[in-house]
Amino acid sequence: MKVICVSGSVGVGKTTYAKRLAKKLRYEYIDLNKVINENRLKEKYDRKRKCYEIDVKKLNKVLIKLIKESEKSLVIDGHLSHYLPKEYITKVIILKCDLKKLRKRLEKRGYSKSKITENLEAEIFDVCFEEARRIGHKLEVIES
Ligand SMILES: Nc1ncnc2c1ncn2[C@@H]1O[C@H](COP(=O)(O)OP(=O)(O)OP(=O)(O)O)[C@@H](O)[C@H]1O
Ligand SMILES: [Mg+2]
Repeated sequence: MKVICVSGSVGVGKTTYAKRLAKKLRYEYIDLNKVINENRLKEKYDRKRKCYEIDVKKLNKVLIKLIKESEKSLVIDGHLSHYLPKEYITKVIILKCDLKKLRKRLEKRGYSKSKITENLEAEIFDVCFEEARRIGHKLEVIES
């Protein structure tokens, strides 16, 4: 059984890519947002950053159970997926997106200036890639 995580900054195209990949490989597609909502893993709302705080430890517990119980190989879509311990993960795909394109996408979503800046900075500094690398995941970087 294989588990591929698709991670990267907000709006880079993870969902689009992960769904396509799951279909192509005939793996089961797992939407992390859905897992978070179904398991009530949203904690307090961070007003400044305009997003919910997620307890990654709790999320990992739920995901590890899901992985262990799954009979099918999985594609896990979400920017918290790379926090899973490396022993459960075949590889992490980090999606990258041209900054101009990404800014346009985030503006189209109606995000505030500060939220757009925060997310563009995350992409510029390769935050997801660096975190995944530090955890020791096998990595693949793909331009979306
Ligand atoms: N390869 C691509 N070419 C053109 N547009 C794309 C591509 N991939 C994604 N998009 C568009 O960019 C937007 C964001 O894509 P998507 O929802 O897949 O990103 P995401 O990384 O999953 O976002 P989030 O972090 O919010 O979950 C969508 O409008 C989608 O249609
Ligand atoms: Mg998505």
